[in-house]
Amino acid sequence: MTREVICHGIEEPKLGTINVSRYIGADAIAREWHSVWRTQWLLAGLVSDVPTAGDFFVFEIATEQILVTRSPQGDIRAFYNVCQHRGNRLVNESRGHAQDFRCLYHAWTYDLDGALKGVPGLANFPSDPRQSRFLKPVALDVWNGLIFVHLGDDPKSLSDFLGPLAAHLSGYRFDRMTLVEDQTVDIACNWKTVVDNFSELYHVDFLHPQHQRMVDCQNDLVRLFAGGHTGVEVPGATVNPKFPIPSEPTDIQSMQLKQVGLNPDDFVGRVMDIRVAIQSRKRDAGQSLGFDYSGLEDHQLSDVWQYNLFPNAILSFTPEHLWILRPRPHPTDPNRCWFDKISLLMFPEAGADVQHIGGMTRHAAVPLPETRPNHDVFDASAVKSGKKSMTDTIDQDISLLEEVQAGMNSEGFKEMVLGHDEMRMQHFHNHWALLMGA
Ligand code: FES
Ligand SMILES: [Fe+2]
Repeated sequence: MTREVICHGIEEPKLGTINVSRYIGADAIAREWHSVWRTQWLLAGLVSDVPTAGDFFVFEIATEQILVTRSPQGDIRAFYNVCQHRGNRLVNESRGHAQDFRCLYHAWTYDLDGALKGVPGLANFPSDPRQSRFLKPVALDVWNGLIFVHLGDDPKSLSDFLGPLAAHLSGYRFDRMTLVEDQTVDIACNWKTVVDNFSELYHVDFLHPQHQRMVDCQNDLVRLFAGGHTGVEVPGATVNPKFPIPSEPTDIQSMQLKQVGLNPDDFVGRVMDIRVAIQSRKRDAGQSLGFDYSGLEDHQLSDVWQYNLFPNAILSFTPEHLWILRPRPHPTDPNRCWFDKISLLMFPEAGADVQHIGGMTRHAAVPLPETRPNHDVFDASAVKSGKKSMTDTIDQDISLLEEVQAGMNSEGFKEMVLGHDEMRMQHFHNHWALLMGA
C-alpha cells in the first residue's frame, strides 16, 4: 500500500474508470498525434550520442523522423528528416557522423546547421532554392544530459514543462552517466499500456517476487505534478516488510554491501539496518569510491526512484544508474508500439577502488564500454522465449503486456477500474484526457 501521495500544485485526482477505447481505437492515433505528441516535449536521446560536430542520430516518433545533430558552432539542433526538394528522407542511418547531409535522390546537400548549400543544376530553377529551402527546424532543449524535442508551434520552455520536478531531481547526474545497453522491443500493445505498467507498484508483489529481496514497496512515496508527470520513491537496499524479514542479508543486499566495501556477515540478524548502513558508507566514503554524492540526501543514496515525464519518458534510477524506458507509438496500429530501454551507468572517477556501483543485478559487472553499444531491436517473442532479456523484471512485465492488450480488445471488457495504488496511472490518464478533450 502506497505510504503517501504528495501533490505538487494540483488537487489529488479522483479515482475512476478508464474506457478501453483509448487503447484500441485507430481513430485515437491521429488525435493523439495533434493533441499529445505535438504539444509536449519528447525525450529524443542522449547528449552523449552527439559529442562532436557532425555526429547525428534519428529519433523516430509515430510517422515522423527527427534528425538531431551537433553543429560546427557546438550547439545541438534538430530538423525534420526530410529533404526540401521533393520530400525524400534525407538521412537513412539511425546514427552516425557526417560532414554534411546529402540527399540520395538528386544530391541536394545541406550543412550541419540545416542550410541548403548544394543544388546540382542550380540554373534550372526559376529562383535559387538555397535562399529559401532550409531543413525544417524542430525546437530542442537539453536537461541533465537528455535531449528533448518539441514538434509543435511556439512551445513553452522545457524548464516550464518540467516544472518543480527538475529541481527535485537536480542532485542526480544523468549527464555524467555512460550508455551501457540500448534495446528496443517491438511489442503488440498500445504505448499507454506500457506507461500504465510503469505507473503502479500494485503488481510488483505478484509479478516480480524477487523485488521483496531488494526494495520496500510497502513504503513507497508517490508524487504527482502538474502536466501529467508523476514519480515514485521506493526505499532500496532493504526488504519488503510485508513478508517475513530474513535473518541474513538477501543475495542482492549482499551484493550491494560488497560494492561499497561492507561485509554482509556483519549484518546477520540486522537486515533492516542495511539501508542506513549503505547510506552512511556512501556518504562517508563516496570520494574514495569515486563518486560525488554531494547533491543528494541520505535516502537518495539507497533508494530507487522512478519518474514518468508525460507523455512517454519513464526514468528509473539510483545515483549510479539510469534506465530510460520509452514506449513509442506505432504510426497506424494502436495495438502495437516500440518500447526502448536505454541503460546508463555512473562509472567512478579514475583511481577509485571500485569498478562501479551498479546497484542493479544485471549490470553489476559491466566494464566501461570502449565503444557505443549497438542498438539491439527485437520482437517481444524473443523475450518470451528467453532469447533476449531486458532484465528479469522487465521480461516479467513483457510477459503480460500483450495479454493485457488482447484483453482490452475482448467483447468481455470495456473499462478499467483503478485503486489508490494506481493513483499515478489515474493522473497520467487525466492529463491525457484533458489534452485530447476526452
Ligand atoms: S528529393 Fe532530395 S534532392 Fe531531390
Ligand atoms: Fe512491473
